[in-house]
Amino acid sequence: MVSEKPIKKIIIVRAGPAGLLLGILLAKQGINITILEANTELDKNPRAAHYASIAIQEMRRAGVLEDVQREGYIPEGVCWREFDGTYIAGIKSHVDDPDVMVCLPLDKLIRLYYRHFQKEKMGNLLWAHKVVGIEQDVKEARVICETPEGTKTLGADYVLGCDGANSQVRKSLFGKEYPGETLHSQIIATNVYYDFHKFGYWDSNFIVHPEDWYMAAKITPDGMWRVTYGDKIGLSTKEYLERQPMRYEHLLPGNPKPGDYRLMNASPYKLQQRCAPSFRVGRFILVADAAHLCNPFGGMGLTGGFADVTSLYDCLIAIQNGLTTDKILDKYSEIRIKKWAEIIDPVSRGNFRRLWAEDAIPERLAFFEMCKKMDTDEEMQKGGAAASVLRVFLIWNALTDR
Ligand SMILES: Cc1cc2nc3c(=O)[nH]c(=O)nc-3n(C[C@H](O)[C@H](O)[C@H](O)COP(=O)(O)OP(=O)(O)OC[C@H]3O[C@@H](n4cnc5c(N)ncnc54)[C@H](O)[C@@H]3O)c2cc1C
Ligand SMILES: *[C@@H]1O[C@H](CO)[C@@H](O)[C@H](O)[C@H]1NC(C)=O
Repeated sequence: MVSEKPIKKIIIVRAGPAGLLLGILLAKQGINITILEANTELDKNPRAAHYASIAIQEMRRAGVLEDVQREGYIPEGVCWREFDGTYIAGIKSHVDDPDVMVCLPLDKLIRLYYRHFQKEKMGNLLWAHKVVGIEQDVKEARVICETPEGTKTLGADYVLGCDGANSQVRKSLFGKEYPGETLHSQIIATNVYYDFHKFGYWDSNFIVHPEDWYMAAKITPDGMWRVTYGDKIGLSTKEYLERQPMRYEHLLPGNPKPGDYRLMNASPYKLQQRCAPSFRVGRFILVADAAHLCNPFGGMGLTGGFADVTSLYDCLIAIQNGLTTDKILDKYSEIRIKKWAEIIDPVSRGNFRRLWAEDAIPERLAFFEMCKKMDTDEEMQKGGAAASVLRVFLIWNALTDR
């Protein structure tokens, strides 16, 4: 006799990186997956770009890693510099590590995920389905969507809110308030073609300075760079964009004027550290940015989101295979919230403050000393110390409990 599987159908709200990856993984397990995307196409914003080892492991499990590695590239290393460009310390990537970090702009990554999702027989994606409300009873979770054909109600065993920072699922569960804070700093994230290598820069560079800190990282093999810098607080988007040429000329090596580079993208971002009160309410589950936010220094955002995907997938599959009950989903919520509070929040704050804060100087110097020691100590190098120091520094490994 074939017993009925406990989970037949799951609805995933929105086709971002977390939703698509979960969709691929769960559809492979024979669960009927419907992804609801409010827009009529995938997001084109190249936000995240660097994916740490735990994300790499998850990409391998979903069968997408080879494509990600082919379309992306492996940065040679990360270093810290003075404002005048002087090298302070750095860490080379351990390219032999099968889980070595890969760089691929988010818009490209989600297109690649979508191609894989389309191959799954159990995967459906409905465009122009905007979730506006939710309801649930003991048997089923339901979402109410606005669609071009009018309002529809769709039901499933579980609904996964992978709908980003402005998550409608979270707002429906807990109201508008997203507990946490907006940091008192302003960043401008830009994408630009400009040859930093000409000035001896590495693939990823953090410039340390009390006011003129910034980050410059090559994000595509053809030489597009992400430059993220700080600016005065409280200006309008228009004012920030007007100041961009002046800021570039002041900050970047070679003091470039607008004709010297090709600017592809520029947008001001607020830095937020937030976490939802619970990641599970009955048959509704929150994942990634819908559940928690942090500033982008050190790439803890989506990396933390991928860690959610890993944990949640393992929980759902254990339920599916009769190894546990749905109580494990309370554990998912409890452990992911703990990881946010103990790792994602403090480490991402530290990564940012290390660039400019006076009280971070002693810790910064100790960190640079460790990097320098690694450069000269052959024993440390042989032991794969570079890879492990990089992991310890960003504490990526500790993000998952398996
Ligand atoms: C400037 C910047 C740089 C970052 N760099 C990194 C990094 O290097 N490494 C890292 O790990 N994380 C980084 N992050 C964080 C990362 O982008 C998010 O954590 C991640 O996208 C969250 O995924 P998600 O699936 O939860 O939600 P989302 O990516 O928000 O997706 C959910 C849904 O919302 C839609 N959506 C969200 N925002 C927009 C928008 N602006 N326009 C249109 N549709 C939108 C998407 O299409 C999707 O349907 C960065 C964030 C920013 C702002
Ligand atoms: C999955 O569910 C949808 C909606 O209920 C249904 O139309 C579709 O046929 C199902 N797909 C499979 C492969 O069972």
